[in-house]
Amino acid sequence: MARTSRMPGFHKVTVQERRALVGEATGADVGEIGRALEQGGLDAESADKFVENVLGTYALPYGVALNVRVNGHDHVVPMVIEEPSVVAAASNAAKMVRAAGGFAAETDPALMIAQVQLREVRDAQAAARRIREHEQEIVELAERAIAGLVARGGGVRGVEARILADDMVVAHVVIDCRDAMGANLVNGVAEAVGDRVAAIADARLGLRILSNLSDKRCVRVRCRVPAEILATDEMGGSDVIDGMVAASRFAELDPYRAATHNKGIMNGIDAVVIATGNDWRAVEAGAHAYAARTGRYQPLAVWRRDGDAIEGRLEVPLALGTVGGTLRVHPAARLSLRMLGVNGARELAAIAASVGLASNLAAVRALASDGIQRGHMGLHARSVAVAAGALGEQVERVAAMIVEARDITLEGARSALSALAAEAGGTATAPDWHRQERDRAD
Ligand code: MEV
Repeated sequence: MARTSRMPGFHKVTVQERRALVGEATGADVGEIGRALEQGGLDAESADKFVENVLGTYALPYGVALNVRVNGHDHVVPMVIEEPSVVAAASNAAKMVRAAGGFAAETDPALMIAQVQLREVRDAQAAARRIREHEQEIVELAERAIAGLVARGGGVRGVEARILADDMVVAHVVIDCRDAMGANLVNGVAEAVGDRVAAIADARLGLRILSNLSDKRCVRVRCRVPAEILATDEMGGSDVIDGMVAASRFAELDPYRAATHNKGIMNGIDAVVIATGNDWRAVEAGAHAYAARTGRYQPLAVWRRDGDAIEGRLEVPLALGTVGGTLRVHPAARLSLRMLGVNGARELAAIAASVGLASNLAAVRALASDGIQRGHMGLHARSVAVAAGALGEQVERVAAMIVEARDITLEGARSALSALAAEAGGTATAPDWHRQERDRAD
């Protein structure tokens, strides 16, 4: 059965019903979904084996982005995130992209860099030359440290030398980590070759560690959305395109805006990275270093008009694994991979990057049209409503009342709650970005 990620009405049903729908769509067992997500998927005893000084675990919401189609395949995409609207906005944007064929993604091989720092170098040019001349010897030494990876088709793909100063050179050993994120493999190689590389360079050995600027492990994603799909209630599609192109230019010209633009992309990417048990700090470090690689901090995704449509392009390094690390032990991470049905780390990276581009599309479109303040006010109002003691359906209604009254305070929420209790059965509602995104994601 071909997987589908289209599930109209998904947000309207109960959590149990959603699990059943996802089970049906992805082949994951409903009982397993329940067990894997109980207590955030990790009990205190297991957590105690992950890190030190454990007191317990800290759960975050686990949702799924719908409508995601990448390279012709549908995926129900798990997202772990605490920020309201991100899952709905990504699903809604993915639905727009899907109508025009879906995301097209290409990924580099899983090339990671082991760095060996060489200090007190006597002659930097000669040291760099000797490292290159001894490439074969260094490759053989490195591959002895990762024999299992070599047997699985991975291994060392080259050795490079970079001169950083008159007295400092760094050797890079480039390793194809296949389906592993690779941190342990790469650090193992750096340590295995360090002494020999220092001897070859006639230098003192410094640090031996991977680089999180994994710029040989990039994903490039494209999408195209016709104007009529981008139109909002108040704005024609062509005007939305103009606004989005201007928003992209703003980010390209201004690092202050580029940081926020990229934050919107990472909203989507990080949520998938966390749900799949991957190292989001490594991904964040790599993404922002890549954004600044020209010496000027740039947006990771840009938007351009293409006739009557808009085209978005995202390029980002993504060091993700589908084997090893947390994945072996975290039941929710294993569930995520099963639900995604991916064929390895490169496909996972393509999906995560696509969700990043979807998140960016949703944010930039909203900012270039209605703005998101109305929605953000609605979201803020919801947390104020919860703090005032609203439960279940009361939350939306109290939030709507205090937004309408322009009194988003604890006091305001308390009186709205009392008014609701007095009226019993009132129907106050107001549109916000969150609700709009959720409904459009159908
Ligand atoms: C909020 O989490 C993300 C946005 O600020 C992104 C953006 O401004 O592009 C809405």
